[in-house]
Amino acid sequence: MKRSSYCGNVREDSIDKDIVICGWVHSRRDHGGVIFIDLRDREGLLQIVFQPENKETFKIAERLRSEYVVSVKGLVRKRPKGTLNPNLLTGSIELVVSKVEILNTCPGLPFEVSNYREISEELRLKYRYLDLRRPSFQKNFIMRHKVANEVRVFLNSESFLEIETPFLTKSTPEGARDFLVPSRLHHGSFFALPQSPQLFKQILMISGFDKYYQIVKCFRDEDLRADRQLEFTQIDLEMSFVEENDVMDVIERMLLRVFKNVLNIEIKIPFERISYADAMLRYGSDKPDTRFEMEIKDFSIEFKECDFKVFSSVISKGGIVRGLCIPEGASFSRSEIDGFKNFAIEYGAKGLVWMKIMESGVESGIIKYFKDEEIKVIKSKFGAKLGDLIVFLADEEKVVVQCLGALRLKMGKELDLIDKFKFNFLWVVDFPLMEWNKEEERWQTLHHPFTSPQGVVSLNKKNVGTAKAKAYDVILNGIELGGGSIRIHRSDVQKEIFDILSTSDESAKEKFSFLLDALTYGAPPHGGLALGFDRICALMAGEDSIREVIAFPKTQKASDPLFNAPTSVSEKQLKELNVRIDVG
Ligand code: AMO
Repeated sequence: MKRSSYCGNVREDSIDKDIVICGWVHSRRDHGGVIFIDLRDREGLLQIVFQPENKETFKIAERLRSEYVVSVKGLVRKRPKGTLNPNLLTGSIELVVSKVEILNTCPGLPFEVSNYREISEELRLKYRYLDLRRPSFQKNFIMRHKVANEVRVFLNSESFLEIETPFLTKSTPEGARDFLVPSRLHHGSFFALPQSPQLFKQILMISGFDKYYQIVKCFRDEDLRADRQLEFTQIDLEMSFVEENDVMDVIERMLLRVFKNVLNIEIKIPFERISYADAMLRYGSDKPDTRFEMEIKDFSIEFKECDFKVFSSVISKGGIVRGLCIPEGASFSRSEIDGFKNFAIEYGAKGLVWMKIMESGVESGIIKYFKDEEIKVIKSKFGAKLGDLIVFLADEEKVVVQCLGALRLKMGKELDLIDKFKFNFLWVVDFPLMEWNKEEERWQTLHHPFTSPQGVVSLNKKNVGTAKAKAYDVILNGIELGGGSIRIHRSDVQKEIFDILSTSDESAKEKFSFLLDALTYGAPPHGGLALGFDRICALMAGEDSIREVIAFPKTQKASDPLFNAPTSVSEKQLKELNVRIDVG
Protein backbone atom coordinates (compact mmCIF):
# COMPACT_ATOMS: atom_id res chain seq x y z
CA MET A 1 0.00 0.00 0.00
CA LYS A 2 1.93 3.02 -1.24
CA ARG A 3 0.82 6.33 0.23
CA SER A 4 -0.99 8.51 -2.31
CA SER A 5 -1.80 11.57 -0.17
CA TYR A 6 -1.28 13.28 3.16
CA CYS A 7 -4.32 12.86 5.46
CA GLY A 8 -4.66 16.60 5.95
CA ASN A 9 -4.50 17.41 2.24
CA VAL A 10 -7.42 15.31 0.98
CA ARG A 11 -10.23 17.50 -0.38
CA GLU A 12 -13.58 17.12 -2.11
CA ASP A 13 -11.89 16.64 -5.50
CA SER A 14 -10.92 13.15 -4.26
CA ILE A 15 -14.55 12.08 -3.71
CA ASP A 16 -15.22 8.63 -5.26
CA LYS A 17 -11.49 8.03 -5.60
CA ASP A 18 -9.50 5.28 -3.90
CA ILE A 19 -6.58 6.68 -1.88
CA VAL A 20 -3.93 5.39 0.51
CA ILE A 21 -2.95 7.39 3.58
CA CYS A 22 -0.60 6.72 6.48
CA GLY A 23 -0.59 8.27 9.91
CA TRP A 24 -1.23 8.13 13.63
CA VAL A 25 -4.51 7.33 15.38
CA HIS A 26 -5.41 10.74 16.80
CA SER A 27 -8.77 9.77 18.28
CA ARG A 28 -11.18 6.88 18.07
CA ARG A 29 -14.95 6.83 18.47
CA ASP A 30 -17.19 3.78 18.52
CA HIS A 31 -20.66 4.80 17.25
CA GLY A 32 -23.06 1.92 17.45
CA GLY A 33 -21.05 -0.58 15.51
CA VAL A 34 -19.27 1.89 13.24
CA ILE A 35 -15.74 2.89 14.28
CA PHE A 36 -14.55 6.39 13.44
CA ILE A 37 -10.90 7.31 13.62
CA ASP A 38 -9.25 10.67 13.07
CA LEU A 39 -6.03 9.79 11.33
CA ARG A 40 -3.31 12.39 11.66
CA ASP A 41 -0.18 13.28 9.74
CA ARG A 42 1.81 16.49 9.61
CA GLU A 43 -0.71 18.16 7.28
CA GLY A 44 -3.77 17.50 9.45
CA LEU A 45 -6.57 15.07 10.22
CA LEU A 46 -8.88 12.94 8.10
CA GLN A 47 -11.85 11.03 9.45
CA ILE A 48 -11.76 7.38 8.46
CA VAL A 49 -14.70 5.02 8.82
CA PHE A 50 -14.60 1.30 9.58
CA GLN A 51 -17.91 -0.38 8.69
CA PRO A 52 -18.83 -3.67 10.37
CA GLU A 53 -19.69 -5.19 6.96
CA ASN A 54 -15.97 -5.34 6.22
CA LYS A 55 -15.25 -7.89 8.94
CA GLU A 56 -11.51 -8.08 8.38
CA THR A 57 -10.81 -4.33 8.67
CA PHE A 58 -13.34 -3.93 11.47
CA LYS A 59 -11.56 -6.53 13.57
CA ILE A 60 -8.30 -4.64 13.16
CA ALA A 61 -10.02 -1.32 13.92
CA GLU A 62 -11.16 -2.73 17.28
CA ARG A 63 -7.50 -3.16 18.21
CA LEU A 64 -6.47 0.39 17.30
CA ARG A 65 -5.48 2.68 20.14
CA SER A 66 -4.14 6.25 20.40
CA GLU A 67 -0.94 6.86 18.42
CA TYR A 68 -0.91 3.48 16.66
CA VAL A 69 0.66 3.91 13.22
CA VAL A 70 -1.47 2.64 10.35
CA SER A 71 -1.67 2.57 6.61
CA VAL A 72 -5.19 2.72 5.21
CA LYS A 73 -6.74 2.27 1.78
CA GLY A 74 -10.27 3.38 1.04
CA LEU A 75 -12.81 5.37 -0.90
CA VAL A 76 -13.32 9.08 -0.23
CA ARG A 77 -16.94 10.12 0.17
CA LYS A 78 -18.90 13.18 1.21
CA ARG A 79 -19.85 13.11 4.89
CA PRO A 80 -23.55 12.50 5.54
CA LYS A 81 -25.63 15.64 6.25
CA GLY A 82 -25.36 16.84 9.83
CA THR A 83 -21.93 15.30 10.39
CA LEU A 84 -19.79 18.00 8.77
CA ASN A 85 -16.98 19.47 10.87
CA PRO A 86 -16.36 23.12 9.90
CA ASN A 87 -13.23 23.22 12.09
CA LEU A 88 -11.33 20.84 9.81
CA LEU A 89 -10.17 21.49 6.25
CA THR A 90 -11.15 17.87 5.61
CA GLY A 91 -14.40 18.35 7.53
CA SER A 92 -16.76 17.72 4.61
CA ILE A 93 -15.34 14.33 3.61
CA GLU A 94 -14.35 10.97 5.08
CA LEU A 95 -12.59 7.81 3.99
CA VAL A 96 -14.39 4.47 4.03
CA VAL A 97 -11.72 1.90 4.74
CA SER A 98 -11.30 -1.13 2.50
CA LYS A 99 -7.89 -2.22 3.73
CA VAL A 100 -5.85 -1.43 6.84
CA GLU A 101 -2.41 -2.39 8.07
CA ILE A 102 -1.03 -1.72 11.54
CA LEU A 103 2.54 -0.51 11.04
CA ASN A 104 3.29 -0.04 14.72
CA THR A 105 1.65 -0.01 18.12
CA CYS A 106 1.98 2.43 20.99
CA PRO A 107 1.71 1.83 24.75
CA GLY A 108 -0.27 4.06 27.16
CA LEU A 109 0.88 7.67 26.72
CA PRO A 110 2.55 9.89 29.34
CA PHE A 111 0.22 12.63 28.04
CA GLU A 112 -2.45 12.78 25.37
CA VAL A 113 -1.44 14.13 21.98
CA SER A 114 -5.01 14.74 20.82
CA ASN A 115 -6.40 16.28 23.98
CA TYR A 116 -3.54 18.34 25.30
CA ARG A 117 -3.59 19.57 28.86
CA GLU A 118 -1.00 21.69 30.67
CA ILE A 119 1.81 19.46 31.89
CA SER A 120 5.28 20.15 33.21
CA GLU A 121 7.88 21.36 30.77
CA GLU A 122 10.21 18.61 31.97
CA LEU A 123 7.71 15.91 30.91
CA ARG A 124 6.94 17.64 27.61
CA LEU A 125 10.61 17.83 26.69
CA LYS A 126 11.39 14.30 27.91
CA TYR A 127 8.80 13.01 25.44
CA ARG A 128 9.43 15.76 22.90
CA TYR A 129 8.68 13.36 20.01
CA LEU A 130 5.12 13.07 21.32
CA ASP A 131 4.87 16.75 22.18
CA LEU A 132 5.93 17.70 18.66
CA ARG A 133 3.21 15.49 17.17
CA ARG A 134 0.56 17.97 18.35
CA PRO A 135 -1.07 19.65 15.34
CA SER A 136 -0.30 23.15 16.67
CA PHE A 137 3.39 22.27 16.77
CA GLN A 138 3.41 20.75 13.32
CA LYS A 139 1.85 23.99 12.07
CA ASN A 140 4.55 26.06 13.80
CA PHE A 141 7.36 24.09 12.19
CA ILE A 142 5.83 24.16 8.74
CA MET A 143 5.60 27.92 9.19
CA ARG A 144 9.20 28.15 10.42
CA HIS A 145 10.34 26.30 7.31
CA LYS A 146 8.38 28.72 5.10
CA VAL A 147 9.91 31.75 6.84
CA ALA A 148 13.44 30.38 6.29
CA ASN A 149 12.62 29.66 2.67
CA GLU A 150 11.23 33.17 2.03
CA VAL A 151 14.29 34.71 3.67
CA ARG A 152 16.60 32.67 1.45
CA VAL A 153 14.65 33.39 -1.73
CA PHE A 154 14.63 37.12 -0.93
CA LEU A 155 18.30 37.43 0.02
CA ASN A 156 19.41 35.32 -2.95
CA SER A 157 17.45 37.61 -5.24
CA GLU A 158 19.30 40.58 -3.70
CA SER A 159 22.68 38.99 -4.55
CA PHE A 160 23.56 37.89 -1.02
CA LEU A 161 25.86 34.86 -0.77
CA GLU A 162 25.20 32.20 1.86
CA ILE A 163 28.56 31.44 3.46
CA GLU A 164 29.11 29.19 6.49
CA THR A 165 31.34 30.18 9.37
CA PRO A 166 32.92 27.97 12.05
CA PHE A 167 31.45 26.89 15.38
CA LEU A 168 34.83 26.20 16.94
CA THR A 169 36.30 29.64 17.29
CA LYS A 170 37.51 32.27 19.69
CA SER A 171 35.23 34.17 21.99
CA THR A 172 33.45 37.14 20.36
CA PRO A 173 32.04 39.71 22.73
CA GLU A 174 28.23 39.94 22.39
CA GLY A 175 27.75 40.48 26.09
CA ALA A 176 27.04 36.94 27.29
CA ARG A 177 29.14 34.15 28.78
CA ASP A 178 30.87 31.84 26.27
CA PHE A 179 30.48 28.10 25.91
CA LEU A 180 33.99 26.69 25.97
CA VAL A 181 35.28 23.55 24.26
CA PRO A 182 38.59 22.13 25.49
CA SER A 183 41.10 21.37 22.75
CA ARG A 184 42.50 17.81 22.67
CA LEU A 185 45.58 18.80 20.72
CA HIS A 186 46.33 22.02 22.57
CA HIS A 187 46.10 21.11 26.22
CA GLY A 188 44.92 23.94 28.41
CA SER A 189 43.46 25.83 25.45
CA PHE A 190 39.81 26.25 24.62
CA PHE A 191 37.67 27.05 21.65
CA ALA A 192 34.60 29.17 22.27
CA LEU A 193 31.31 28.53 20.49
CA PRO A 194 30.38 31.73 18.65
CA GLN A 195 27.88 34.07 20.29
CA SER A 196 27.33 35.23 16.70
CA PRO A 197 29.35 35.15 13.47
CA GLN A 198 30.07 38.87 13.93
CA LEU A 199 33.80 38.89 13.28
CA PHE A 200 33.63 36.26 10.54
CA LYS A 201 31.11 38.26 8.57
CA GLN A 202 33.20 41.40 8.88
CA ILE A 203 36.23 39.47 7.66
CA LEU A 204 34.17 38.16 4.73
CA MET A 205 33.52 41.80 3.79
CA ILE A 206 37.25 42.51 3.98
CA SER A 207 37.65 39.49 1.65
CA GLY A 208 35.43 41.20 -0.88
CA PHE A 209 32.31 39.00 -0.79
CA ASP A 210 30.19 42.18 -0.68
CA LYS A 211 26.95 40.66 0.62
CA TYR A 212 26.79 37.70 3.04
CA TYR A 213 24.01 35.93 4.87
CA GLN A 214 23.52 32.84 6.94
CA ILE A 215 20.72 31.27 8.94
CA VAL A 216 22.96 30.22 11.73
CA LYS A 217 23.13 28.80 15.25
CA CYS A 218 24.59 31.07 17.95
CA PHE A 219 25.55 30.05 21.47
CA ARG A 220 25.25 32.16 24.60
CA ASP A 221 25.50 30.88 28.14
CA GLU A 222 22.94 33.21 29.69
CA ASP A 223 19.94 32.84 31.98
CA LEU A 224 16.99 31.51 30.03
CA ARG A 225 13.76 33.41 29.53
CA ALA A 226 10.73 33.09 27.29
CA ASP A 227 12.67 34.72 24.46
CA ARG A 228 16.13 33.36 25.24
CA GLN A 229 17.79 30.01 24.67
CA LEU A 230 21.38 28.85 25.11
CA GLU A 231 21.52 28.06 21.41
CA PHE A 232 19.32 30.01 19.08
CA THR A 233 19.20 30.90 15.42
CA GLN A 234 19.98 34.19 13.73
CA ILE A 235 19.28 35.43 10.24
CA ASP A 236 22.65 37.07 9.99
CA LEU A 237 23.70 39.41 7.19
CA GLU A 238 26.42 41.86 6.27
CA MET A 239 26.87 44.26 3.34
CA SER A 240 29.74 46.34 1.97
CA PHE A 241 29.67 50.01 0.86
CA VAL A 242 26.46 50.75 2.75
CA GLU A 243 25.07 53.19 5.27
CA GLU A 244 22.38 52.63 7.92
CA ASN A 245 19.47 53.24 5.53
CA ASP A 246 20.66 50.57 3.07
CA VAL A 247 20.69 47.84 5.72
CA MET A 248 17.38 48.96 7.21
CA ASP A 249 15.79 49.01 3.76
CA VAL A 250 16.85 45.41 3.00
CA ILE A 251 15.50 44.20 6.34
CA GLU A 252 12.18 46.01 5.85
CA ARG A 253 11.68 44.55 2.37
CA MET A 254 12.66 41.09 3.59
CA LEU A 255 10.14 41.21 6.46
CA LEU A 256 7.49 42.60 4.10
CA ARG A 257 7.95 39.56 1.85
CA VAL A 258 8.01 37.08 4.74
CA PHE A 259 4.80 38.40 6.31
CA LYS A 260 3.03 38.60 2.94
CA ASN A 261 4.02 35.16 1.69
CA VAL A 262 3.78 33.25 4.96
CA LEU A 263 0.89 34.93 6.82
CA ASN A 264 -0.70 36.89 3.98
CA ILE A 265 -0.32 40.02 6.10
CA GLU A 266 0.67 43.31 4.48
CA ILE A 267 3.00 45.15 6.84
CA LYS A 268 3.72 48.83 6.34
CA ILE A 269 7.23 49.88 5.35
CA PRO A 270 9.29 51.93 6.02
CA PHE A 271 8.99 51.22 9.75
CA GLU A 272 8.69 54.13 12.11
CA ARG A 273 11.95 55.27 13.70
CA ILE A 274 12.46 56.49 17.22
CA SER A 275 15.64 57.60 18.92
CA TYR A 276 16.94 55.63 21.89
CA ALA A 277 16.54 58.73 24.08
CA ASP A 278 12.94 59.19 23.00
CA ALA A 279 12.13 55.50 23.51
CA MET A 280 13.51 55.59 27.04
CA LEU A 281 11.66 58.83 27.82
CA ARG A 282 8.27 57.94 26.34
CA TYR A 283 8.15 54.19 26.92
CA GLY A 284 10.80 53.49 29.55
CA SER A 285 12.34 50.87 27.30
CA ASP A 286 14.76 50.49 24.39
CA LYS A 287 12.30 48.02 22.90
CA PRO A 288 8.98 49.77 23.27
CA ASP A 289 5.67 48.05 22.67
CA THR A 290 3.87 50.69 20.61
CA ARG A 291 0.66 48.71 20.18
CA PHE A 292 -0.80 50.90 22.91
CA GLU A 293 -0.16 54.51 23.90
CA MET A 294 0.01 55.29 27.63
CA GLU A 295 3.21 57.29 27.26
CA ILE A 296 5.41 58.30 30.16
CA LYS A 297 5.73 62.07 30.77
CA ASP A 298 8.57 63.95 32.39
CA PHE A 299 7.94 66.62 35.05
CA SER A 300 11.51 67.29 36.14
CA ILE A 301 11.33 70.92 34.94
CA GLU A 302 7.78 71.61 36.15
CA PHE A 303 8.38 70.19 39.65
CA LYS A 304 11.87 71.60 40.17
CA GLU A 305 10.68 74.07 42.74
CA CYS A 306 7.36 72.54 43.76
CA ASP A 307 6.26 72.42 47.40
CA PHE A 308 6.25 68.66 47.48
CA LYS A 309 9.73 68.11 48.84
CA VAL A 310 9.99 64.46 47.72
CA PHE A 311 9.95 65.71 44.13
CA SER A 312 11.93 68.91 44.43
CA SER A 313 14.71 67.38 46.52
CA VAL A 314 15.16 64.42 44.16
CA ILE A 315 15.38 66.84 41.21
CA SER A 316 17.86 69.07 43.02
CA LYS A 317 20.09 66.01 43.54
CA GLY A 318 20.11 65.24 39.83
CA GLY A 319 17.19 62.81 39.84
CA ILE A 320 14.01 63.00 37.78
CA VAL A 321 10.24 62.89 38.19
CA ARG A 322 8.15 61.08 35.64
CA GLY A 323 4.62 59.80 35.57
CA LEU A 324 2.15 57.55 33.86
CA CYS A 325 -1.56 58.14 33.31
CA ILE A 326 -3.52 54.91 33.57
CA PRO A 327 -6.79 55.20 31.68
CA GLU A 328 -9.83 54.60 33.89
CA GLY A 329 -7.43 53.70 36.70
CA ALA A 330 -9.25 55.78 39.32
CA SER A 331 -11.39 52.74 40.05
CA PHE A 332 -8.38 50.90 41.45
CA SER A 333 -8.73 50.30 45.18
CA ARG A 334 -6.20 51.46 47.77
CA SER A 335 -4.83 47.91 48.05
CA GLU A 336 -4.47 47.65 44.27
CA ILE A 337 -2.56 50.93 44.24
CA ASP A 338 -0.43 49.61 47.11
CA GLY A 339 0.32 46.70 44.78
CA PHE A 340 1.74 49.19 42.25
CA LYS A 341 3.83 50.69 45.03
CA ASN A 342 5.28 47.29 45.89
CA PHE A 343 5.92 46.66 42.20
CA ALA A 344 7.87 49.95 42.07
CA ILE A 345 9.83 49.02 45.18
CA GLU A 346 10.84 45.72 43.55
CA TYR A 347 12.34 47.83 40.77
CA GLY A 348 14.41 49.77 43.27
CA ALA A 349 12.10 52.80 43.71
CA LYS A 350 11.48 54.16 47.17
CA GLY A 351 7.76 54.58 46.60
CA LEU A 352 5.12 55.88 44.26
CA VAL A 353 2.60 58.68 44.55
CA TRP A 354 -0.76 58.84 42.84
CA MET A 355 -3.58 61.17 41.86
CA LYS A 356 -7.10 60.19 40.86
CA ILE A 357 -9.04 62.41 38.46
CA MET A 358 -12.51 62.44 40.01
CA GLU A 359 -15.67 64.44 39.37
CA SER A 360 -15.05 66.35 42.61
CA GLY A 361 -11.50 67.23 41.56
CA VAL A 362 -8.14 65.54 41.99
CA GLU A 363 -8.01 63.07 44.86
CA SER A 364 -4.62 62.31 46.35
CA GLY A 365 -2.85 62.20 49.69
CA ILE A 366 -0.38 64.81 48.42
CA ILE A 367 -2.85 67.19 46.75
CA LYS A 368 -2.26 69.92 49.35
CA TYR A 369 1.32 70.38 48.11
CA PHE A 370 0.24 71.24 44.57
CA LYS A 371 -0.99 74.56 43.21
CA ASP A 372 -3.98 74.66 40.86
CA GLU A 373 -1.65 75.70 38.07
CA GLU A 374 0.53 72.62 38.61
CA ILE A 375 -2.47 70.31 38.60
CA LYS A 376 -3.57 71.90 35.33
CA VAL A 377 -0.14 71.25 33.82
CA ILE A 378 -0.23 67.61 34.97
CA LYS A 379 -3.68 67.05 33.49
CA SER A 380 -2.93 68.74 30.20
CA LYS A 381 0.44 67.03 29.69
CA PHE A 382 -1.24 63.64 30.02
CA GLY A 383 -4.49 64.70 28.37
CA ALA A 384 -5.96 63.08 31.49
CA LYS A 385 -9.67 62.34 31.57
CA LEU A 386 -12.20 61.90 34.32
CA GLY A 387 -11.64 58.50 35.93
CA ASP A 388 -7.92 58.27 35.13
CA LEU A 389 -5.20 57.47 37.63
CA ILE A 390 -1.84 59.22 37.47
CA VAL A 391 1.21 57.74 39.18
CA PHE A 392 4.54 59.50 39.73
CA LEU A 393 8.01 58.25 40.53
CA ALA A 394 10.88 60.41 41.71
CA ASP A 395 14.32 58.83 41.77
CA GLU A 396 17.55 58.50 39.84
CA GLU A 397 16.89 58.28 36.11
CA LYS A 398 17.65 54.58 35.63
CA VAL A 399 15.23 53.48 38.36
CA VAL A 400 12.40 55.74 37.15
CA VAL A 401 12.81 54.70 33.51
CA GLN A 402 12.93 50.96 34.22
CA CYS A 403 10.14 50.98 36.73
CA LEU A 404 7.69 53.10 34.72
CA GLY A 405 8.54 51.12 31.59
CA ALA A 406 7.69 47.87 33.38
CA LEU A 407 4.55 49.36 35.00
CA ARG A 408 3.37 50.62 31.61
CA LEU A 409 3.67 47.13 30.14
CA LYS A 410 2.01 45.51 33.14
CA MET A 411 -0.94 47.92 32.93
CA GLY A 412 -1.17 47.54 29.16
CA LYS A 413 -1.54 43.78 29.60
CA GLU A 414 -3.81 43.88 32.65
CA LEU A 415 -6.15 46.49 31.18
CA ASP A 416 -6.22 44.61 27.89
CA LEU A 417 -4.98 47.63 25.93
CA ILE A 418 -2.82 45.53 23.60
CA ASP A 419 -4.26 44.51 20.24
CA LYS A 420 -2.90 40.96 19.83
CA PHE A 421 -3.52 41.00 16.08
CA LYS A 422 -1.30 44.01 15.46
CA PHE A 423 2.28 43.75 14.25
CA ASN A 424 4.01 47.00 15.22
CA PHE A 425 7.49 47.24 13.78
CA LEU A 426 9.80 49.97 14.90
CA TRP A 427 13.43 51.00 14.49
CA VAL A 428 15.25 52.30 17.52
CA VAL A 429 18.19 54.43 16.40
CA ASP A 430 20.78 56.86 17.75
CA PHE A 431 21.93 54.64 20.58
CA PRO A 432 24.70 55.91 22.83
CA LEU A 433 27.94 54.25 21.76
CA MET A 434 28.88 53.34 25.32
CA GLU A 435 27.51 53.38 28.83
CA TRP A 436 29.32 53.59 32.14
CA ASN A 437 29.23 50.42 34.21
CA LYS A 438 29.07 51.79 37.74
CA GLU A 439 29.80 48.51 39.52
CA GLU A 440 32.83 47.62 37.42
CA GLU A 441 33.86 51.25 36.90
CA ARG A 442 34.45 50.94 33.19
CA TRP A 443 32.94 51.83 29.85
CA GLN A 444 31.01 49.19 27.97
CA THR A 445 29.40 49.22 24.53
CA LEU A 446 25.63 49.07 24.12
CA HIS A 447 26.01 46.85 21.05
CA HIS A 448 29.48 45.42 20.41
CA PRO A 449 32.90 47.03 20.15
CA PHE A 450 32.89 46.93 16.34
CA THR A 451 30.06 49.45 16.03
CA SER A 452 30.95 52.69 14.30
CA PRO A 453 30.45 55.97 16.16
CA GLN A 454 28.36 58.68 14.48
CA GLY A 455 30.41 61.59 13.09
CA VAL A 456 34.16 61.52 12.66
CA VAL A 457 35.21 62.23 16.20
CA SER A 458 38.39 61.14 17.79
CA LEU A 459 37.20 59.21 20.80
CA ASN A 460 38.72 59.17 24.23
CA LYS A 461 37.57 58.38 27.74
CA LYS A 462 36.38 61.99 28.18
CA ASN A 463 34.10 62.43 25.19
CA VAL A 464 32.93 58.84 24.74
CA GLY A 465 29.94 59.33 27.06
CA THR A 466 28.20 61.62 24.57
CA ALA A 467 29.04 59.75 21.36
CA LYS A 468 26.19 58.10 19.50
CA ALA A 469 26.44 54.84 17.55
CA LYS A 470 25.55 54.05 13.95
CA ALA A 471 23.38 51.28 15.35
CA TYR A 472 19.78 50.26 14.83
CA ASP A 473 17.53 47.73 16.53
CA VAL A 474 14.36 46.43 14.96
CA ILE A 475 11.54 45.92 17.44
CA LEU A 476 8.29 44.03 16.98
CA ASN A 477 5.54 44.36 19.57
CA GLY A 478 7.98 45.22 22.34
CA ILE A 479 10.43 42.44 21.52
CA GLU A 480 13.90 43.04 20.12
CA LEU A 481 13.80 41.17 16.83
CA GLY A 482 17.25 42.17 15.71
CA GLY A 483 20.12 44.54 16.00
CA GLY A 484 22.88 45.77 13.79
CA SER A 485 25.19 48.61 12.95
CA ILE A 486 27.61 50.15 10.54
CA ARG A 487 31.01 48.82 11.57
CA ILE A 488 34.29 50.48 12.18
CA HIS A 489 36.38 49.85 9.07
CA ARG A 490 39.42 51.87 10.08
CA SER A 491 42.05 50.27 12.23
CA ASP A 492 42.89 53.51 14.10
CA VAL A 493 39.27 54.10 15.18
CA GLN A 494 38.93 50.45 16.25
CA LYS A 495 42.12 50.81 18.27
CA GLU A 496 40.71 53.87 20.06
CA ILE A 497 37.58 51.94 21.01
CA PHE A 498 39.59 48.97 22.28
CA ASP A 499 41.69 51.36 24.36
CA ILE A 500 38.61 52.85 25.98
CA LEU A 501 37.15 49.40 26.69
CA SER A 502 40.32 47.76 27.96
CA THR A 503 40.54 47.05 31.64
CA SER A 504 43.79 46.55 33.45
CA ASP A 505 43.52 42.75 33.28
CA GLU A 506 42.17 42.40 29.74
CA SER A 507 43.39 44.12 26.64
CA ALA A 508 40.81 44.02 23.87
CA LYS A 509 43.53 45.27 21.54
CA GLU A 510 45.60 42.13 22.08
CA LYS A 511 42.61 39.79 21.96
CA PHE A 512 41.45 41.15 18.62
CA SER A 513 44.80 42.01 17.10
CA PHE A 514 43.86 39.82 14.09
CA LEU A 515 40.95 42.19 13.39
CA LEU A 516 43.08 45.29 13.76
CA ASP A 517 45.51 43.71 11.30
CA ALA A 518 42.78 42.74 8.84
CA LEU A 519 41.31 46.26 8.91
CA THR A 520 44.61 47.67 7.69
CA TYR A 521 44.49 45.57 4.49
CA GLY A 522 41.89 47.57 2.60
CA ALA A 523 38.69 47.01 4.60
CA PRO A 524 35.62 48.41 2.80
CA PRO A 525 32.98 50.38 4.71
CA HIS A 526 30.43 47.78 5.80
CA GLY A 527 27.49 47.12 8.07
CA GLY A 528 24.82 44.55 8.78
CA LEU A 529 22.30 43.17 11.16
CA ALA A 530 21.15 39.92 12.76
CA LEU A 531 17.54 38.98 13.36
CA GLY A 532 16.48 36.50 16.01
CA PHE A 533 14.93 33.81 13.81
CA ASP A 534 13.26 32.01 16.73
CA ARG A 535 11.76 35.27 17.95
CA ILE A 536 10.30 36.13 14.54
CA CYS A 537 8.76 32.67 14.25
CA ALA A 538 7.30 32.80 17.76
CA LEU A 539 5.72 36.20 17.12
CA MET A 540 4.36 35.11 13.75
CA ALA A 541 2.92 31.93 15.29
CA GLY A 542 1.38 33.93 18.16
CA GLU A 543 3.43 32.01 20.73
CA ASP A 544 4.67 33.55 23.97
CA SER A 545 7.87 31.53 24.13
CA ILE A 546 10.49 30.71 21.51
CA ARG A 547 10.48 27.15 22.90
CA GLU A 548 7.26 26.61 20.93
CA VAL A 549 9.09 27.13 17.63
CA ILE A 550 12.35 25.34 18.49
CA ALA A 551 12.23 21.57 17.95
CA PHE A 552 14.56 20.64 20.80
CA PRO A 553 14.90 23.52 23.23
CA LYS A 554 16.44 23.40 26.69
CA THR A 555 14.28 23.62 29.81
CA GLN A 556 14.12 26.74 31.92
CA LYS A 557 16.91 25.15 33.96
CA ALA A 558 19.10 24.76 30.85
CA SER A 559 18.90 21.00 30.46
CA ASP A 560 17.67 18.55 27.86
CA PRO A 561 15.49 15.87 29.51
CA LEU A 562 15.18 13.86 26.26
CA PHE A 563 18.89 13.16 25.78
CA ASN A 564 19.53 13.73 29.46
CA ALA A 565 22.13 16.39 28.77
CA PRO A 566 24.36 17.76 30.13
CA THR A 567 25.93 14.67 31.75
CA SER A 568 29.28 13.71 33.12
CA VAL A 569 31.76 12.13 30.67
CA SER A 570 34.16 9.21 31.04
CA GLU A 571 37.53 9.46 32.72
CA LYS A 572 39.07 8.46 29.37
CA GLN A 573 37.51 11.43 27.57
CA LEU A 574 38.65 13.81 30.28
CA LYS A 575 42.17 12.39 30.23
CA GLU A 576 42.45 12.89 26.47
CA LEU A 577 41.51 16.52 26.96
CA ASN A 578 43.80 16.84 29.94
CA VAL A 579 40.86 18.11 31.96
CA ARG A 580 40.41 17.25 35.63
CA ILE A 581 37.13 17.70 37.47
CA ASP A 582 37.63 19.30 40.83
CA VAL A 583 34.45 18.45 42.71
CA GLY A 584 33.53 20.73 45.58
P1 AMO B 1 22.48 40.70 18.98
O1 AMO B 1 23.32 40.26 20.12
O2 AMO B 1 21.60 41.90 19.18
O3 AMO B 1 23.38 41.08 17.73
O4 AMO B 1 21.60 39.50 18.47
C1 AMO B 1 20.73 39.64 17.38
C2 AMO B 1 19.38 39.04 17.70
O5 AMO B 1 19.49 37.69 18.10
C3 AMO B 1 18.42 37.38 18.99
N1 AMO B 1 18.97 36.80 20.24
C4 AMO B 1 18.49 35.71 20.86
N2 AMO B 1 17.46 34.91 20.58
C5 AMO B 1 17.23 33.87 21.40
N3 AMO B 1 17.99 33.57 22.47
C6 AMO B 1 19.05 34.34 22.80
N4 AMO B 1 19.80 34.01 23.85
C7 AMO B 1 19.34 35.48 21.98
N5 AMO B 1 20.28 36.44 22.00
C8 AMO B 1 20.04 37.23 20.94
C9 AMO B 1 17.68 38.64 19.27
C10 AMO B 1 18.69 39.70 18.88
O6 AMO B 1 18.07 40.90 18.49
N6 AMO B 1 26.35 40.20 15.85
C11 AMO B 1 25.26 41.07 16.25
C12 AMO B 1 24.42 41.51 15.08
C13 AMO B 1 25.07 42.54 14.20
O7 AMO B 1 25.59 43.53 14.75
O8 AMO B 1 25.01 42.38 12.98
C14 AMO B 1 24.39 40.32 17.23
O9 AMO B 1 24.52 39.14 17.46
O10 AMO B 1 16.53 38.70 18.44
